[in-house]
Amino acid sequence: MTDARTAPHLDAVLAFVDRERARFVDDLTAWCRVPSISSSPAHVGEMRRSAEFLVAQFRALGADEATVIETPGHPAAFGEWRVDPALPTVLVYGHHDVQPVDPIEQWSSPPFEPTVRDGRLYGRGVVDDKGQVYIHAKAIEAFVKAGGGKPPVNLKLIVEGEEEIGSEHLDGILREHEERLRADYVVVSDTAMFGRGIPSLCVGLRGIAYWDVKLTAHKLDCHSGSFGGGVPNPATALAEIIAKLHDERGHVTIPGFYDRVRALPESERREIESLPFDEKEFLASTGARAAVGEQGFTTLERLWTRPTLEVNGLSSGWQGPGSKTIVPATASAKLSSRLVPDQDPEEISRLVETHLKRLAPKGVEVEVTFLHGGRPYLAPTEHPVFDVAKRAFSRAFGRPTVFIREGGSIPFVRTIADRTGKPCLLMGFGQPDENAHAPNEWLDLENFHLGIKSVIYLYDEIRALGRS
Ligand code: BES
Ligand code: ZN
Repeated sequence: MTDARTAPHLDAVLAFVDRERARFVDDLTAWCRVPSISSSPAHVGEMRRSAEFLVAQFRALGADEATVIETPGHPAAFGEWRVDPALPTVLVYGHHDVQPVDPIEQWSSPPFEPTVRDGRLYGRGVVDDKGQVYIHAKAIEAFVKAGGGKPPVNLKLIVEGEEEIGSEHLDGILREHEERLRADYVVVSDTAMFGRGIPSLCVGLRGIAYWDVKLTAHKLDCHSGSFGGGVPNPATALAEIIAKLHDERGHVTIPGFYDRVRALPESERREIESLPFDEKEFLASTGARAAVGEQGFTTLERLWTRPTLEVNGLSSGWQGPGSKTIVPATASAKLSSRLVPDQDPEEISRLVETHLKRLAPKGVEVEVTFLHGGRPYLAPTEHPVFDVAKRAFSRAFGRPTVFIREGGSIPFVRTIADRTGKPCLLMGFGQPDENAHAPNEWLDLENFHLGIKSVIYLYDEIRALGRS
C-alpha cells in the first residue's frame, strides 16, 4: 500500500515486497528449520548453524561485512551495509536463539517444520525473534534488488544467540565491538503490537532478575515413617517461605523491594487507560479465570509499570508414578522478578537473598544463586525519531500508531541505551496472543508483510531525519 506521501523512489521497493511476498515466507521457513535452542547443550551445533545461515543471507544481500561474532557462549551474527558516512547509521538488534519446545505433544505441527495455516506461520522462533529479524533482512533485500542496490541509510544488524537465556555475553560483545556497533539510532523488533492491525511502538520494558533457590535439610531422602514428624521437611519449608513473599493485597513483602519504584505519572496512567484493552480477551488467551495482582492497579498497569516476584518452577521429593514414602532431602525453586525503573537487578538480588535466608526455618539451609539480570528501559519519547517511527509504522498499516509498554525484558535495550546515549526504538510486529515461548508459536503473515514495509518507510524517513 502506497500513499500520496510516498517518495516515488520507494514505489519499486514496495512493489518488490508485494511481488516476493510468498517467497519471503519460504526464506524465513528455511531459517526457522534450524533448531537454535540456546538453553540446550545438545543444540550447540545448531546455534552455530543458525548464526552461519544468517551471515550467509547477509552476504547474499551484498553486505559490506558479514561475519559470525564469537562469544564464550553462543555466536551472534553481524552484517553491515555502508552507504555513505554522511548519512545516519541504524543499528538493528534481534536474536536468533529460541526457547525450548516442550511440551512438544501440544504442538499441532512440528516446531521446526514451520507450517502456514490461516494466514499464520506456525513454528518455534517464527515471531520470537527470527521472523522479526527477517523483516529487516527482507526490507534490505528490497532496497538492494529493487531500490538501486543499497539501503537508504548505513545499516548494522547484530543478532544475538543468548537473548533467551539472559544475554550473559552481551556486555562482552558490546565492549569488544564498540566501534563496529556505533550508530545514530537503534531499532529492535522483538515485541508485540497492542492488538490486530494496531501499529504499536513499545516505549518501556521491564527488567529482570532470576534466581535458583535451594533448600537442604538432610544428606539423603529419609523414610517418612521413621523420620517424618521429627525432622524438618524442606518441601514444606519452601512452601511456607513462598507463601510469605506476598501479602493479602498482592504486594511483595521483601523489605526495600519497592524503594526505587517510580510512581506512574498521571498523564501516563491516562494514556494507558485510553488504550482499547479487552481484559476478557487477555484472560481468554491463557485460559485464566480471573485477573489478580497488586491491589490499586489495573491489569495493564500491573503488567507494564509494577515489579513482580514470581515462582517459575518448583521441585522436591517424589515426582514419579505412584507413591514413595520419604521426607525429601532438598527442595528447590526458580524465582524471578520483573523490575521497573529505577530498580536494579543486583540490588534487588541482595534484598531477595537476605530475606529468603531470614525466612529459613530451623534446620533448613537456604542457598540462593543469581542466574541473570537485565535492567528496565523507558524510551526518550520526546526525541524526534519517535515521531518518524510513528509515521513510518502508520503508513504501512494505515492506522494511527500507539505507544505501549511491555512486561517482558530485552536486556540489550537498556544496555545499549546507557552505553551510547542513543534512542532505542522498539518497533515490534508480534501479536499479544502469538504463543511466544509456548506450543504453537505463530507469526501473523500480514504483519510480516506490512512489517517489511514499515521498516522500508522507517529507514527512508531516518535518512531524511539525518544523523543524531
Ligand atoms: N521477545 C521477548 C521479549 C518480550 C516479551 C517482548 C514479552 C514483549 C513481550 C524476548 O525474547 C524474551 O522473552 N526475553 C526474555 C528475557 C530474559 C530471559 C532475560 C524474557 O522477557 O523473559
Ligand atoms: Zn524475543
